[in-house]
Amino acid sequence: MRRSRISGLGIHVPDRVVTNDELGTFMDTSDEWIIQRTGIRERRWADPETATSDLGVAAARAALSDAGVEASDVDMIVFATLSPDHYFPGAACFLQAKMGMGGIPAIDVRQQCTGFVYALSLADAYVRIGMASRVLVVGAEIHSAGLDVTTRGRDVAVLFGDGAGAAVVEATDVADPATDPHIWSSHLHADGTGAEELWLPAPGMAYERFMTKDQIDAGLQYPVMNGRTVFVNAVKRMSEAVVEAAAANDIEVADVDLFLFHQANLRINQSVAGHLGIDDTKVFNTIERYGNTTAATIPIGMFEARAAGALEPGMVVMLAAFGSGFTWGATLLRF
Ligand code: UT7
Repeated sequence: MRRSRISGLGIHVPDRVVTNDELGTFMDTSDEWIIQRTGIRERRWADPETATSDLGVAAARAALSDAGVEASDVDMIVFATLSPDHYFPGAACFLQAKMGMGGIPAIDVRQQCTGFVYALSLADAYVRIGMASRVLVVGAEIHSAGLDVTTRGRDVAVLFGDGAGAAVVEATDVADPATDPHIWSSHLHADGTGAEELWLPAPGMAYERFMTKDQIDAGLQYPVMNGRTVFVNAVKRMSEAVVEAAAANDIEVADVDLFLFHQANLRINQSVAGHLGIDDTKVFNTIERYGNTTAATIPIGMFEARAAGALEPGMVVMLAAFGSGFTWGATLLRF
């Protein structure tokens, strides 16, 4: 049976650590408020010369090396990001050029915090149907250049960080589905009626002009979020996606060995775990050190869990995410 599996993982985060106290020098906030409401202690910020694709390249190289393959062995790139280097072309094209991988398809996925789950599902589907054999899946973000780091933007600015994660997804011949590592299924959803609950209003073609000085003066180039609504929907939708993915594969949620949830707020993940009766020790979080790196949170989580000994070959792993769009989904796999 032709399926896909994750054969390599890599991450890259900028060196610069920005603590909650440092944010307090730009805006009216506090270490205590941020930790209590979100669980975040610090995040990384890239230097001004670094583009999102640069972070992606570093993570991708690490993932290829982890898989023991060369860039020339890859036949497709899927790059999930909400913070591409430029409005167009997509970040996947910039990454492809920087890695000398010209000729193969390079796709951008714009599903925000659910970006990596969507990207992984694409890679899996292309491999299953035989249109690709080895796919480089990247999730990378630079938020720091686009945040309002004044008190006006504090509800959003304290949450996000820069970083990248990548996975090599390749074809595998599954002889015994009960034991062989492979992606079991992905379950994707979206509800565009929630689009303006978490979005970047400008620039855009919805306006008479792409970007105006009035828009900049009004701060429309900064992300806007209705935090409470997003929080409630994140708990509800991630819980639903986890239950859906387990049911589709005839297992109980309790049979999952490790949960890697998107990292938006520690309290969201604790609520999902509480709601579904998941043992806290089965949930691996990185938000404390990296904040919300959006499309990068899940590959960073997988990489760090493996490094910490929490993710081992053969484990049943549930990935789940929720974010702007609204978009949400889950992937169940044997690692
Ligand atoms: O990646 C997917 C998308 N993102 C999410 O899933 C995030 C979902 N939402 C959340 O995580 C939470 O709603 C937040 C962490 C954003 C906010 O937590 P909250 O407990 O919902 O706080 P709140 O928005 O109700 O604000 C409480 C107070 C407000 O002051 P008043 O009106 O009560 O006087 C805010 O102005 O906290 C104030 N506040 C802050 N204070 C210090 C908001 N941001 C900050 C801040 N520092 N950074």
